[in-house]
Amino acid sequence: MNILSVTSEIFPLIKTGGLADVTGSLPKVLKAHGCYTRSLVPGYPRVIERLDEISRVHFFPDLFGAPARLLAATGQGLDLLVLDAPTLYDRPGGPYVDEDGVDFPDNWKRFAVLSYVASAVAGGLLEDWIPDIVHTHDWQTALTSVYMRYSSNASHVPSVLTIHNLAFQGQFGADLINEIGLPPEALSVDCLEYYGDMSYLKGGIRTATAITTVSPTYAREVISTDLGMGMDGVLESRLNAFIGIVNGIDTEIWNPATDDYLPVKYDRTRTRQRTGNRQRLLEAFQLEDTRGPIFAAITRLTWQKGGDMLADVAEHIRHKGGKLVVLGKGDPGVETALLAAAGRHPGWIGVKVGYDEATAHLMHGGADVVIQPSRFEPCGLTQLYALRYGAVPLVSRTGGLSETIIDANDAAFSARVATGFQFHPATSENLRSAIDRAFHAYLDPKKWARLQGQAMKADFSWERSATQYAALYARLLPPAPRKQS
Ligand code: ADP
Ligand code: GLC
Repeated sequence: MNILSVTSEIFPLIKTGGLADVTGSLPKVLKAHGCYTRSLVPGYPRVIERLDEISRVHFFPDLFGAPARLLAATGQGLDLLVLDAPTLYDRPGGPYVDEDGVDFPDNWKRFAVLSYVASAVAGGLLEDWIPDIVHTHDWQTALTSVYMRYSSNASHVPSVLTIHNLAFQGQFGADLINEIGLPPEALSVDCLEYYGDMSYLKGGIRTATAITTVSPTYAREVISTDLGMGMDGVLESRLNAFIGIVNGIDTEIWNPATDDYLPVKYDRTRTRQRTGNRQRLLEAFQLEDTRGPIFAAITRLTWQKGGDMLADVAEHIRHKGGKLVVLGKGDPGVETALLAAAGRHPGWIGVKVGYDEATAHLMHGGADVVIQPSRFEPCGLTQLYALRYGAVPLVSRTGGLSETIIDANDAAFSARVATGFQFHPATSENLRSAIDRAFHAYLDPKKWARLQGQAMKADFSWERSATQYAALYARLLPPAPRKQS
């Protein structure tokens, strides 16, 4: 079965968060299920410069006002279609924002065009390759199924829209409908119209053949007003076509036994080796080498992720004799508060504002606890990496965090199933109590080693979820024609 995955980021070529990890790793595991994926991505400079074996498969003399090329290429083990549209993607900054962190004003066009080209590929643009399924991700590519219904690229290829985060919906002025080449019917309340504007995500939810989100718990949460972000009703209207499939992790990239970012590699039978990584981690953040647990957070510093709560508990951790290391960027107020805490407690609290893959791996390999105090969390990958690296996760009980971590309460601990600490609801006070529980457990080395061992045993490889995706794709395919007898 051929799958066209359409995505605005893909690891290791371009990444701002977990979306890239998922779109980069899922194609690899789906192969074993007979699903062959080509990923259509924008030709950002960072993508173009890392491609191998490039060939031009289509030339658009005038794609929404400018020429563009569709390239076929391989890169880092991925099979790619790259939309080389320099007027849209060849510019400094990230995938969505300029160098000052401000959203590009033409994001409505940059991702509409990507989705349009995806629908063209589904409609037979390439002579030698046509997908059986189109799989889109988040608002950036959700318009694909709208084009497949309403444009000249109409196609009956089934589509799957995966929602990685309902907080981002791609909402733009309704007056842009002509500019993105869609007819006025697409602006109906049954499709794109959203409180007088257009919502790309809503359009996708209304038109995709199936909709998934990245954990069963989040799938339940988003059909309530609490976490539905205004889309609960729209999702409810597609309930029969909506399921949650929990993310897995790439166990080749995230493997402490082979991870080249770690000064000392280790596995479940050699967790003492982590001390070497702890040492390097302390050096990296210029912290004193005293006893006591190291708490780490590797995260976007946003409201969703509870970045403000990290700032609230930083001094508590220090006063109890622990260290806190934070790697992240986001809300300037949170960045400032964390940097100020680090300034007040040199040697104890370390903060790096930025994005750094190598430090993220080192933190998982050397810290004792990874904190994730999210207010909502569709799935979360950091806690899964933490499990695998034996950095005990301490998380709020929401979304994917609830179902991937088993709280170390007495019963779970005695049953030898506990893998971390949970707290609920997500408040600084509850986070502080969970941190106290972690300190308490850490004081008992035997207890801690058991918890760490159980965490490392948890299996969140892609296998089970890949099976679910493959089964979903198979269900959506039109029935094979009956053999004549
Ligand atoms: P989200 O996608 O909502 O940000 P996830 O937990 O699904 O959250 O994925 C986050 C991914 O981004 C993980 O791979 C994590 O290691 C990575 N990450 C987040 N912040 C940073 C950072 N500052 N530096 C390096 N990696 C980061
Ligand atoms: C989003 C979510 C995160 C999820 C990731 C990958 O960014 O915030 O919870 O793990 O997508 O699906």
